[in-house]
Amino acid sequence: MPDFHLIDHKGYKIITNIHSPEELEKLEEGEVYDDDLFIVTYPKSGTIWMQQIMTLIDAKGNATQSKLTSDHFPWVELPEFAKNFASRPSPRLYCSHLPWYLLPKGLRQKKGKIIYVSRNPKDVLVSYYHFHIFANMLETPKDFEDFLDKFIEGRVNGGSWFDHIRGWYSHKDEFNILFLTYEELIKDLKTAIVKITRFWGKDLDDQQVNNVVYHSTFRNMKTNPKANYESIPSSMLDQEKGSFMRKGVIGDWKNVLTVAQNERFDQLFKEKMSDCPLKFVWN
Ligand code: PPS
Repeated sequence: MPDFHLIDHKGYKIITNIHSPEELEKLEEGEVYDDDLFIVTYPKSGTIWMQQIMTLIDAKGNATQSKLTSDHFPWVELPEFAKNFASRPSPRLYCSHLPWYLLPKGLRQKKGKIIYVSRNPKDVLVSYYHFHIFANMLETPKDFEDFLDKFIEGRVNGGSWFDHIRGWYSHKDEFNILFLTYEELIKDLKTAIVKITRFWGKDLDDQQVNNVVYHSTFRNMKTNPKANYESIPSSMLDQEKGSFMRKGVIGDWKNVLTVAQNERFDQLFKEKMSDCPLKFVWN
């Protein structure tokens, strides 16, 4: 039986109710400028958190910015933004779940900047499972085991977590890229924000950085309609059933995976990631 709107586009899984293979194809050829900036993640790895942090950095910590963070950093792979990539005024700020080889090729000449955020895949899996329960554009999983099978096989929007991170990491030298982890943001948000600010080439004083930290904590984002995605239409998200700002912690996987599921995941992780030097924080 075919997957729910899920198709293969050049080895990557997209959903046809949201993405357009034709626009993605054109996006690859889009010209890149030095001040372009992309937040790149596999789904559920801290994208909207980074949208809020970067929006605040851009506003020097002033949280009264008028735009939704999703308007400040729109998803480049959505057809309306992919189509208008060339005409968007600079500096062009975007976020994306695309793999390294589907973003505009000019990025591979170290033009523009990329911030790649990763998260330990067991927490990604659990967060993505909950997202599928309230996201109307995605197939509702029968149960967690069913979703685990799909996640492991990469039969979800965004494809395989393993391919995504391995692809970006092994091609990192071609890009002007900063790797960050969700867990380092949790453990020391201020240090991570200073790192991002320097990489982006922004100049913020200590008070401005403190303001960025304050307005990007889970608690403050959860109640901020400009940052928490609650304005997404109910045709896409049924916010009675779940929320983008769900728990925001490290290690929630321990409340969900059975011992057998955890052993299965560990075995697979060992097989797929043994030659990858990236380290993950699981607890
Ligand atoms: S998406 O759909 O791919 O854009 O989702 P994404 O934004 O990448 O990931 C959503 C998870 O990020 C958590 N989140 C945060 N955690 C801690 N602090 C802050 N400020 C924060 N903002 C978002 C969010 O709660 C989702 O994780 P889970 O584990 O589901 O709570």
